Amino acid sequence: MNDRQRPGRLAGKVALIVGGGTGIGACAARLFAAEGAAVAVADIQHEAASQVAQSIVAAGGQSVAIAADVMSEESVRAAVDSAVRQFGRLQVLFNCVGGSLPADAPVTEVDFSVWDRTMNLDVRGTLLACRHAIPHIVAAGGGSVVNMSSGAALRGSGKAHIYAAAKGAVVAVTRNIAGTYARHNVRANAICAGRINTERIRRTYGVPGNPKPGDVNIDEVLKTYPFWFGEPEDIANVALFLASDESRMITGAAIPADGGRSAY
Ligand SMILES: NC(=O)c1ccc[n+]([C@@H]2O[C@H](COP(=O)([O-])OP(=O)(O)OC[C@H]3O[C@@H](n4cnc5c(N)ncnc54)[C@H](O)[C@@H]3O)[C@@H](O)[C@H]2O)c1
Repeated sequence: MNDRQRPGRLAGKVALIVGGGTGIGACAARLFAAEGAAVAVADIQHEAASQVAQSIVAAGGQSVAIAADVMSEESVRAAVDSAVRQFGRLQVLFNCVGGSLPADAPVTEVDFSVWDRTMNLDVRGTLLACRHAIPHIVAAGGGSVVNMSSGAALRGSGKAHIYAAAKGAVVAVTRNIAGTYARHNVRANAICAGRINTERIRRTYGVPGNPKPGDVNIDEVLKTYPFWFGEPEDIANVALFLASDESRMITGAAIPADGGRSAY
């Protein structure tokens, strides 16, 4: 059997990717679709989501774009309902909205306005998507929830204390979701990513060989952790595995995809 003939790893599944307009989410949307999933791409940047959906359809896949703002419960509910209406069911939810703010800082210094924005986007937004998607996943007979956390949740040397709190919360609640919905055949896992080469990261922190001042020295970090800086595909591949039935024994896990930075 050649590659074209083999069934996709997500064949027959419907996936909703929240924050699928750019970065890791956009990459995952294309990968999930290439592996046979029908993919609903939800994002506050509707134009970006539309471009991702159109590129999937142009490549022969199934996709729709949905405008969604995870700061609004009504918007999240409408996005989930729209995905289910258009594809008939839902088995996979990948939560990709989030990120740290440049103003994030150690607890003794940080302006607590950072708290509201970061916790609402990374934690409340993730929970709202779970709240409205999980009943549909249960109705479909089960499936997989994948939440984006960060290596910042696993190691304590980062300067962005509010972001660490938010991504730690994502890990904790992902375990709760795993424990509560296992009996309904729903798995839930978090991905704790290292530094990933997305436009947002390039803009804020720079890249190896050209880091922005104020951040860790990327080149110094890479001397000890040469696998720490990755591409969106590296995380999308982990998400694909967690979304697929190949990972059916894995639930409640926080998978470090951080080049070993939380391990040694
Ligand atoms: N890139 C990294 O280095 C890295 C590392 C660890 C964890 N993460 C996590 O991975 C996730 C994706 O990161 P990324 O670098 O791909 O970011 P990104 O900014 O490229 O993607 C996030 C997407 O979310 C969308 N979005 C923002 N606010 C929204 C809202 N209110 N409602 C709906 N959509 C909204 C954006 O439009 C964007 O398309 C985030 O949760 C981030 O914290 C990223």
